[in-house]
Amino acid sequence: MEISGARVLVVGATGVLGGLTACALAERGAEVALAGRNPVRLAALAQDLGDCPARSFEACDLDQCTALGPWAQRVLSGLDGVLVAVGAAGFGAVEDVSNAAAGHLLTVNALCPMAVLRGAAPVVADKGFLLAVTGDQAERPGTADYAASKAALSGWLGVLAGELAPRSVAVVDFRPPHLDTGCTERPLIGRPLTPQPGADPLDTALALVERITAA
Ligand SMILES: NC(=O)c1ccc[n+]([C@@H]2O[C@H](COP(=O)([O-])OP(=O)(O)OC[C@H]3O[C@@H](n4cnc5c(N)ncnc54)[C@H](OP(=O)(O)O)[C@@H]3O)[C@@H](O)[C@H]2O)c1
Repeated sequence: MEISGARVLVVGATGVLGGLTACALAERGAEVALAGRNPVRLAALAQDLGDCPARSFEACDLDQCTALGPWAQRVLSGLDGVLVAVGAAGFGAVEDVSNAAAGHLLTVNALCPMAVLRGAAPVVADKGFLLAVTGDQAERPGTADYAASKAALSGWLGVLAGELAPRSVAVVDFRPPHLDTGCTERPLIGRPLTPQPGADPLDTALALVERITAA
């Protein structure tokens, strides 16, 4: 897809990867609309990007998530693509994770992105794209609920890709490696991990833009 002039909704724009990608898209001439939870970071980024449209939301309010695509289509007078970079880490042996915590992680990492793309699918332009950041689903001890939430999203994206193929809408499952964003140091459940070196988030944001270009 040609980035210049594309109308793109970035959900999770207040996070490290979402924010860097929103900036990279805007630098290449995309018209962006931003959605994020933290109102201060959201307002600051929207101002940096020329007072672009911005809307706050909470991942656990799935109807709010579903409403984001139609909102972006309205404020941008069309919608060529949606990128969802919402997510949270969560750690703990299976027996130590409460059902409530597991449900919360599944909601933020899977049900929220699904709800966003469910709302966006009918309004995104033919030949557009719908992208969600999933990530590592390796079976390491202490990551069962995190890996399950990302695997659920990946499976759902695979089916959506087939459903939208007749309209040539590209459905992208973007799986970065571990990144230096500090995400694993602020987990939703369990104890923060000792910081481990990861890939450069800016390089990953640029790779994400390349992936959209190729879509
Ligand atoms: N960092 C890694 O090593 C890594 C590796 C593979 C995949 N990923 C995935 O990449 C994506 C971006 O992660 P990141 O590293 O950039 O982490 P990040 O900086 O922590 O960004 C996470 C984003 O999710 C949003 N979010 C979390 N809980 C939310 C909630 N309840 N309601 C609304 N928004 C919520 C955050 O909003 P606020 O900031 O406004 O609270 C933020 O915009 C995530 O899907 C993550 O799982 C990360």
